Amino acid sequence: LSDEGKQMIEAHNLLRKFYHHLLVNTKEGQHALEYLLERGFDLESIERFQIGYALDSWDFDYKFLTNKNFQPALLEKAGLIIKREQDGSYFDRFRDRIMFPIADRHGETIAFSGRSLGAQSPKYLNSPETAIFNKSKTLYNYHLARPTMRKLQQAILFEGFADVIAADRSGVLNGIATMGTSLTEEHVSTLKKNVQVVTICYDSDSAGIEAAFRAGNMLQEANLQVNVATMPDGMDPDDYVKRYGAEKFRNDIIHSNMTFMSFKMLYYRKGKNLQNEGDRLLYIEKVLQEVSHLENLVEKDFYIRQLAEEFNLSLDALKEQERQYSQSTH
Ligand code: GTP
Ligand code: MN
Ligand code: MN
Ligand code: MN
Ligand code: MN
Repeated sequence: LSDEGKQMIEAHNLLRKFYHHLLVNTKEGQHALEYLLERGFDLESIERFQIGYALDSWDFDYKFLTNKNFQPALLEKAGLIIKREQDGSYFDRFRDRIMFPIADRHGETIAFSGRSLGAQSPKYLNSPETAIFNKSKTLYNYHLARPTMRKLQQAILFEGFADVIAADRSGVLNGIATMGTSLTEEHVSTLKKNVQVVTICYDSDSAGIEAAFRAGNMLQEANLQVNVATMPDGMDPDDYVKRYGAEKFRNDIIHSNMTFMSFKMLYYRKGKNLQNEGDRLLYIEKVLQEVSHLENLVEKDFYIRQLAEEFNLSLDALKEQERQYSQSTH
């Protein structure tokens, strides 16, 4: 790491500690702490994830860090302060937000994501890409989750920070999330180095379901075993834990996941009326095409039998059709 990179990390680490102190110990941070407790965060998670609060000030961070002899130009490059065009003065990027530090694999803070307390937009404000922070390579909570991921040979992939933290509070310690962006090939290869199984637990709304479909395909391409865990009624994991508690989350959601194939079967049924002959044929074709991509013969057999039973079809005809798809794709 360059000298500049080291200084940027030092500035982030100092600010992380200060934000955390403001949240936990000061009157200025009290409303932010109350907001988090109201949402179901507890003090133990706030400590473990080093959550903090950025004051409602235009120059608090600027003064705090320049007083510690950091150069404004370096802080600007680090994404912590922003230069005003008009007079070249600086202002803080993060103001009046709950601060989630983003760590690298060693646990050093390399960026922040700040959540607004109310309805202010954007809901989450992230650090820009810098010499030390590359969104498409970073997984939230990777440094804490890694030992458990390796031990269990499984990672749980969430959509948001709040979901990772709610899962952790529930005893699910192998959760990670992207930075609010889609999964990249870099993320996939990081996961591939650590685990055999990835369970996708995205929000059960339409955006989350579409994203799970895309992420699942990428992970499957990398020969990872993929499962999908879904919640009822469009909920996200953090809503679910708050409403139903840790034990139900672990048993009914995380441990009751389905295979990616079963998820795709549900996905292809969406918006179709299987009482209708045309829709039914389209659906069967889609599923057979998916089955033709499976490597495992026992799995193939399992899903073909399932189709045969559900639609009262001849097993031989389905197998023959599947063979044809296999030959045309391999
Ligand atoms: P909460 O409302 O705090 O529970 O957040 P959430 O994690 O449920 O958020 P949501 O499902 O809306 O979005 C998932 C993830 O996308 C978040 O954790 C963020 O990383 C990211 N995200 C959401 N809103 C924004 C935004 O306004 N800007 C950016 N840059 N990212 C966002
Ligand atoms: Mn503390
Ligand atoms: Mn969402
Ligand atoms: Mn969500
Ligand atoms: Mn949420």
